[in-house]
Amino acid sequence: MNILFAAGESSPFVKTGGLADVVWGLSKALVRKGHKVSVFLPFYRKGKEKVKDMYKWVDSFDVAQGWRMTHANIIYDQKEGVDFYFVECDQYFGRDGIYGYGDDAERFSFFQLTVAKAVIHMGMKVDIIHVHDWQAALIPLLCAHAGLKFRSLLTIHNPAFQGYLNPMSLGDLLNLPVVYYSDGLLKFNNMVSMLKGGIATCDAITTVSITHAHELLDNQTDFNGIGNVIRYRQSDMFGIVNGLDYDSFNPETDKELVQNYNVKTYKEGKKANKVALLKKMGFKNPEEDVPVFGLVSRLTSQKGIDRVLRIVPEIVKNKAKLIILGQGEYMIEEELKHLAKLYPENLKIYMGYSEGLANLIYGGSDFFLMPSKFEPCGLGQIIAMHYGTLPIVAKVGGLNDTVKSYYDSHEGATGFAFASWDENCFDYSIGYVCNMFYKNKLSTLIKNAMKEDFSWDKQVEEYIKLYKMLLSR
Ligand code: ADP
Ligand code: GLC
Repeated sequence: MNILFAAGESSPFVKTGGLADVVWGLSKALVRKGHKVSVFLPFYRKGKEKVKDMYKWVDSFDVAQGWRMTHANIIYDQKEGVDFYFVECDQYFGRDGIYGYGDDAERFSFFQLTVAKAVIHMGMKVDIIHVHDWQAALIPLLCAHAGLKFRSLLTIHNPAFQGYLNPMSLGDLLNLPVVYYSDGLLKFNNMVSMLKGGIATCDAITTVSITHAHELLDNQTDFNGIGNVIRYRQSDMFGIVNGLDYDSFNPETDKELVQNYNVKTYKEGKKANKVALLKKMGFKNPEEDVPVFGLVSRLTSQKGIDRVLRIVPEIVKNKAKLIILGQGEYMIEEELKHLAKLYPENLKIYMGYSEGLANLIYGGSDFFLMPSKFEPCGLGQIIAMHYGTLPIVAKVGGLNDTVKSYYDSHEGATGFAFASWDENCFDYSIGYVCNMFYKNKLSTLIKNAMKEDFSWDKQVEEYIKLYKMLLSR
């Protein structure tokens, strides 16, 4: 099959979170199964640094956006058999950041219009268009509007981001007639929502775990009522749990670790990495054999960081250490900085983005915290388990699908999951797991976790089945 992906980010070029891991891991897995995958991405300043050796211009045209004409270049690169096409337009993407600008709706409208035009202009052979999140959700509709109908799939990685724009701008930004709003197709809470438009117009919709698909359909989490829209498409809605890219995350080969290890050698391997991690973070006695908790995350309310703030006294009480790597909302960052000053012996924080440090935290910690309020899938807990670091998670979304909780059954357990409404259980878990640590009772869980198969080679089959089903319709 010829599969076209479009997304706001993808490793190995540009990443802010799990979306980048998934686009890259899934496209490589599809290529390994013999399919052709072309990935469209915006050409951000950060991504440019990574492709500069192989910079290859393949097309160039003007894109009409309402009353404006804006020039776009299409730049090509290939990585491990995956064809990448970058939409270059510095006025929109030649900035330091990726998302979070006041004109994001305009920037990603331009991106989507350009991808739709490139597909036509370059005469690309496409069987399936697979778009990810709101930044790409309207591409199938824009292609259809331009006269080319493809089979399409929308994957919702994060329903909290819905891509709003003022209905008055529909013509100006997306070249679409206002009837698409007034007949309800793109209308959501009296605005245009690109995510809603994708849900309404793609042939099928997936989200990144089975539990989260149910949460959306049952409206268990609000997201401004997007579940009501998804319910209209219930028979075309599926949950497919994310895989893990074993090339990027593998304790046996990871260059960021000071010592590589596998399920047979994890004891010495994790010990060496733990000492290196504690040293790097500036702890006084890095050789000390105490429980180390890691957290690598965007610091947003989704991730339940307020819950983490509350367990710091438990960490202190149990002579444990907590290492946090992340960046995000101002208030969360400030609260963490404040706590780190209060407890320098127990809490260290690196405010920022560092893939190297992230991997050392996965390798060198004993436990990984992910008390999310909602989590469509989550990759942090999967990476942690693969590195023999036991996740302590809230039982929501993909955390429920991927962590086998010791609280449910000791048999086969790979971590600890608490009911999301029972916050005391998170506090309680800290003391509980520290006790298991001090009594040396974790080795079976660690081995179970490391032996789990989270490979994309397994999960990719679910997508292939779905693509084939769409093509046979
Ligand atoms: P989300 O996509 O919601 O942010 P996931 O758990 O699916 O959450 O994926 C997060 C990914 O981003 C993981 O690969 C994690 O290691 C990485 N990550 C998150 N924050 C940072 C950071 N500050 N530095 C480096 N990597 C990070
Ligand atoms: C989103 C979700 C996360 C998921 C990731 C990749 O950012 O928050 O749960 O793992 O996308 O699908």
